[in-house]
Amino acid sequence: MTKRNLIADVLRLKSEKNALILAHNYQIPEIHAVADIVGDSLELALAARKATEPVLVLCGVRFMAETAHILNPEKKVLLPDSDAGCPLADFLTPGMILEAKEKYPEAAVVVYINSTAECKAVSDSVCTSGNAVRIVKSLKQRQVIFGPDTNLASYVQSVLPEKEIIPIPEGGHCYVHMQFDTEDLKEVKTAGISIMVHPECPANIRVHADHVISTGKMAEIAKTGSAWYICTEVGMLDRLKELCPDQSFIGLEDAICADMKKTSLQELITCLRDLTGEVIVPPEIMEKARRALEYMISVP
Ligand code: 13P
Ligand code: SF4
Repeated sequence: MTKRNLIADVLRLKSEKNALILAHNYQIPEIHAVADIVGDSLELALAARKATEPVLVLCGVRFMAETAHILNPEKKVLLPDSDAGCPLADFLTPGMILEAKEKYPEAAVVVYINSTAECKAVSDSVCTSGNAVRIVKSLKQRQVIFGPDTNLASYVQSVLPEKEIIPIPEGGHCYVHMQFDTEDLKEVKTAGISIMVHPECPANIRVHADHVISTGKMAEIAKTGSAWYICTEVGMLDRLKELCPDQSFIGLEDAICADMKKTSLQELITCLRDLTGEVIVPPEIMEKARRALEYMISVP
């Protein structure tokens, strides 16, 4: 079947099932083409929270579908590829958080949205790449246990020296964001190209950035420059070209998140047709995790 036919099938099934399709910026262009909302983790979470459709299809990875279900539990939330996970999220367990809490009883706990529902359930707040600094700053505690991304933790620490960030676990990282090269960035800078860096990149990459921002913010500010080097997953280049076709975006072709690339049009058709891949967060986890997510949303 041609891509056009597949897209037509998705759109027909979406309307038949009264489904809302939410897709992360890293998804392939044909998934963006059928999505109602394309955005970063925070934008997808907020859109899922206020959705009125009975079926929400999350084209992204598991923690995004879990978050949608926690924030809008009446809806049927579907993840088209049940194997689409996030290796960064897998670094952290609730046991590690509880152990850190015992060691630092005065500290607050903030988990990156790239974490399991079980980890969110034992945390005070969730944060995303776009609001991590704001969330940590909002807490009255000086000490903040923060996981699982040690790069995001070090970024927050660099912006908020008045806080003591305690990163857990040691070495938690996203493999996709570890592949950028400082020499490339120096060359790019010399050529007069501006640089946007995702905060999951390590500090030696972040120092070269004109902006350290979430993928949603990248989409917003892309229009303000004519040529950009983008330090994040390669799918973001497609997304930026969709939004700003006359501008130039370069990055690293090898910075691929295998899990974000698992969702295909064919899988989306099966998922919509049979309503498969439902993600259900158990009620006791859901209530506690929702408190941490709602705290994040409440911070202005
Ligand atoms: P954003 O929320 O900035 O899109 O980041 C999500 C993610 O998984 C980055 O790797
Ligand atoms: Fe997880 Fe990294 Fe993929 Fe984002 S890019 S979903 S952090 S593995």
